[in-house]
Amino acid sequence: MIPFLDLKIINAQYKTELKEACSRVIDSGWYVLGNEVAEFEKEFATYCETEYCLGVANGLDALVLILRAYIELGIMQAGDEVIVPSNTYIASILAISENGLMPVLVEPDIDSFNLDPKLIEQAITKKTKAILTVHLYGQVTAMDEINTIAKMHDLKVIEDCAQAHGALYSNKEHKAKKVGSLADAAGFSFYPGKNLGALGDGGAVTTNDSELANTISALRNYGSHEKYKNLYKGMNSRLDEIQAAMLRVKLRYLDDEIVARQTVAKAYLQGINNPLIELPIVENVTAHVWHLFVIKTKQREKLANYLTENGVQSLIHYPIPPHQQDAYDEWKNVSFPISEKIHEQVLSIPISPVLTPDEVDTVIRLVNGYI
Ligand SMILES: Cc1ncc(COP(=O)(O)O)c(C=O)c1O
Repeated sequence: MIPFLDLKIINAQYKTELKEACSRVIDSGWYVLGNEVAEFEKEFATYCETEYCLGVANGLDALVLILRAYIELGIMQAGDEVIVPSNTYIASILAISENGLMPVLVEPDIDSFNLDPKLIEQAITKKTKAILTVHLYGQVTAMDEINTIAKMHDLKVIEDCAQAHGALYSNKEHKAKKVGSLADAAGFSFYPGKNLGALGDGGAVTTNDSELANTISALRNYGSHEKYKNLYKGMNSRLDEIQAAMLRVKLRYLDDEIVARQTVAKAYLQGINNPLIELPIVENVTAHVWHLFVIKTKQREKLANYLTENGVQSLIHYPIPPHQQDAYDEWKNVSFPISEKIHEQVLSIPISPVLTPDEVDTVIRLVNGYI
């Protein structure tokens, strides 16, 4: 079986270093908000080219805390609207509703799967305070267009980078910049299956805004900068020392792993030529870190079954669009046709930094042999 993603093989490559890092934490006797988190925050801020990074418990909390901090700073209040893509993973939307803010779903571009800037302005109202854009599957959103619209309407822009660690974005004014540094603030997930994955849950916020960073540093720690003095009704959402130590090891290999993913993606893009299958459309190779390689087909179930029968695991990201989830019955009667089409047709085929050339060839041969 060619697995969709083999975390055991990925992490086995770094086993000696991971074990050493783990021992270092055990020996330190300090397990929450210590040296490992502080060092990881510095290293990840440097990697993302931002002033600040704050380690938190997971990617959902990273987004929740950014919005909560904007509320504490008086920039947003309950009932304000946040624009978010209608085809994202549910966490981007949960972060908004968790804060008593209103998620306003906007359709993606069918080719990039990312928020379509042409559709944003018509969704802006007097209550709109932010655009939460998601670099879905690892491909950077059209940030220039989004930042321009945000500037015109005085909106904050938040990047959901859970699937896009290390992706680069270039425009005419600047050479390539990393995701996490392209807007007002960004949330990252280090869930084990992510491109930068811990050995448990983890997340981070990156930003250049010192006030925001300072507020989040208290909010993640019961609303407290100083022990037993609570400035806010905060949360307990901290990256732990063990996970920070694991991430410091894995961050060193992230760029190599991205290149390995891009090599697999290039082979698929060049090798797959089945008219029943639509390949992902990519404008700029380095603007995609291929967290997922997502194809479209009108015969998804049949193709997935055929792949399974022939020893290739595939997954669907995602089978049900957010507006059709039971959790959000306020959207029960609305339709987002582009998202619905995407959710009906997408299938993710194996991609990882440890997929062998033989495995890649097998996947290409099988996909091309599908009739
Ligand atoms: C786009 C997106 N945003 C946010 C998250 C939430 O991250 P976590 O699972 O670390 O809470 C995920 C996780 O899958 C995600 O894919």
